[in-house]
Amino acid sequence: MNKVNLQVDIGGLILKNPVVTASGTFGSGLEFVPYLNLNELGGVVVKGTTLLPRQGNAGQRLVETSAGLLNSVGLQNPGVDYYLKEILPELKKYETNFIVNISGNTVEEYGLLAEKLNVPGVAALEVNISCPNVKAGGMAFGTDPKEGAKVVKAVKQNTKLPVIVKLSPNVTNIVEIAQSVEEAGADALSLINTLLGMAIDVQRRKPILGNIMGGLSGPCIKPVALRMVWQVFKAVKVPLIGMGGITTVEDALEFILAGATAVSIGTANFRNPRVSAEIAAGLEQYCLENGIQDIKELIGAAHS
Ligand SMILES: Cc1cc2nc3c(=O)[nH]c(=O)nc-3n(C[C@H](O)[C@H](O)[C@H](O)COP(=O)(O)O)c2cc1C
Repeated sequence: MNKVNLQVDIGGLILKNPVVTASGTFGSGLEFVPYLNLNELGGVVVKGTTLLPRQGNAGQRLVETSAGLLNSVGLQNPGVDYYLKEILPELKKYETNFIVNISGNTVEEYGLLAEKLNVPGVAALEVNISCPNVKAGGMAFGTDPKEGAKVVKAVKQNTKLPVIVKLSPNVTNIVEIAQSVEEAGADALSLINTLLGMAIDVQRRKPILGNIMGGLSGPCIKPVALRMVWQVFKAVKVPLIGMGGITTVEDALEFILAGATAVSIGTANFRNPRVSAEIAAGLEQYCLENGIQDIKELIGAAHS
């Protein structure tokens, strides 16, 4: 049996297979060591990291709705210095790529984070531009093409690592943002982050989440995510990491055929902590069964 080449290139970052885990759903990776061999994954996207430690939002932070998961964790994390000192040395024992997802309240904070993380053991940065821009009065960086571009320039100036920019679906035109951050120097794009939603407790007659609104994820967002990957693939040259509701090998294949070079698995990890390794193995199996020697043959294949 011929071996399948599963290796892909995400803006200079070489992944041994196209499956990574989505930020915020897989901890730093260490939490999942009891369940799967991290070395089976193309990469792990570490949970959102900020300059200072964050407690996250108060009140109820997760709601399982009839259609998907709502979360308002609020970027709880121990801060970048703790990550560098306590977590990164542990991660260096594994032969996979650790991509750190970063969030800032100002352009300067993103720049500082990039500078601090420009160290061995960090394979790439994933820049979450869904955070509120404090200086601009709370508007998210990811909803304004110019603000998003400023963040990318600040990050690129301060790092030699590949810079992956994570796009929010909570915009009218995702293509416009994608093109703007590509022009600002993004090496790759990942999409999509969660869709803004809410749920109400009819007994208390109050919103369930302490923060009222939260991010919707899981299979219910897959058709939206797939549509956005399709649109962005046609509009940019840089590689894409597709995510949003991927639970099965078929889901992952849909994203690759729509134009994703790699896929990221999020909410599905909560149901089955081994799912990302299973999807990586399943992609290889699909290629073997269908005479595909290199998974790259499938990227964007549904467009032709
Ligand atoms: C509990 C939870 C926490 C998340 N935290 C982050 C985060 O810190 N940074 C980020 O960019 N995305 C975060 N996300 C979004 C996911 O990485 C992913 O983009 C989204 O959930 C869609 O994929 P899925 O449907 O497979 O979960 C989080 C999602 C969930 C469910």
